[in-house]
Amino acid sequence: MIIEDYDDQAATLKKLARQAEAAASSPARAVDADAAELSSRRAPRTIAITSGKGGVGKTLVTVNLAVNFARAGLRVLLIDADLGLANLDVVLGLTPEYTIQDVFDGHKHLSDIALQGPMGITILPAASGVAELSNLSESQRLMLMEQIDHWDVDYDVVLVDTGAGISPNVRYFVLAVEQILVVATPDPASITDAYALMKVMFLNHRIAHFDLLVNQVKGEREALEVYKTVQRVAEKFLNIGLNYAGFVPHDPELVRAIRRQKVVSELLPEAPSSAAFGVIAQRMVRLWEKNPRSEGRMTFFGRRLMTAD
Ligand SMILES: Nc1ncnc2c1ncn2[C@@H]1O[C@H](COP(=O)(O)OP(=O)(O)O)[C@@H](O)[C@H]1O
Ligand SMILES: [Mg+2]
Repeated sequence: MIIEDYDDQAATLKKLARQAEAAASSPARAVDADAAELSSRRAPRTIAITSGKGGVGKTLVTVNLAVNFARAGLRVLLIDADLGLANLDVVLGLTPEYTIQDVFDGHKHLSDIALQGPMGITILPAASGVAELSNLSESQRLMLMEQIDHWDVDYDVVLVDTGAGISPNVRYFVLAVEQILVVATPDPASITDAYALMKVMFLNHRIAHFDLLVNQVKGEREALEVYKTVQRVAEKFLNIGLNYAGFVPHDPELVRAIRRQKVVSELLPEAPSSAAFGVIAQRMVRLWEKNPRSEGRMTFFGRRLMTAD
């Protein structure tokens, strides 16, 4: 039932995205200074960091990749979309005055709620533990999409820290971005749940490409074992392409940084996990450089929805 509702919503979003594209390419809009300015921008790279099981390291992956992207000179936006259990701000030691909840209530615009984090990273904080936020209505989701697309701020990378599992919210954010980074650990439950998440996204939304980051391992050998296990099953039963994004070791230094509400990549750049995050981020940037964007700005939430069929 939820899946049917979700497909209806996907169809609505797809229609909106097509309308937006038609409007942007019409001759009337081409003379509009705003539109010309917008279309000269590059669309940001959009990545959702997600997992089947909770507590595997999504938030840590999000903030550490963000620091590395910022270090490479990219303008980074982080969206805390773990709307039921938000904690990006806690990990970063920030105290939000307003949250996405205020945007939904109509009191605030995104620019009012945005916080500045380390290295100039912008963060959109979510309200923590607000029960009704863990399931947004379709109009709330559309409102968020609209505001992000019309926000007069330019980013190179947008990272979305999602909740775990396959709730409608998670699927919405995953469907809205172009790259899906699944985080798993060697824990068998985490592996099974990562596979289940990809299966649902493939069977219901035809998403056939994912990146896998293996966290909390002893070393790369263990990470590759996890990757190969998931890849074999995904390719055999689902025809899913799974890219190995890299690994992050279990690292007590990372836990030390968390206790101080700091990002390990910034506080302890020599730590094993910092080095690992650096490698993963560099690999992603290199892939983007190899596949540069040719088109002008398109809507952030719309890319996959437009190309899904
Ligand atoms: N590489 C790691 N080394 C040590 N501890 C880790 C590592 N990754 C995650 N953790 C532990 O797992 C906890 C949950 O991480 P978090 O990023 O909040 O997970 P999620 O966002 O998936 O719920 C952290 O607070 C930390 O204690
Ligand atoms: Mg989290």
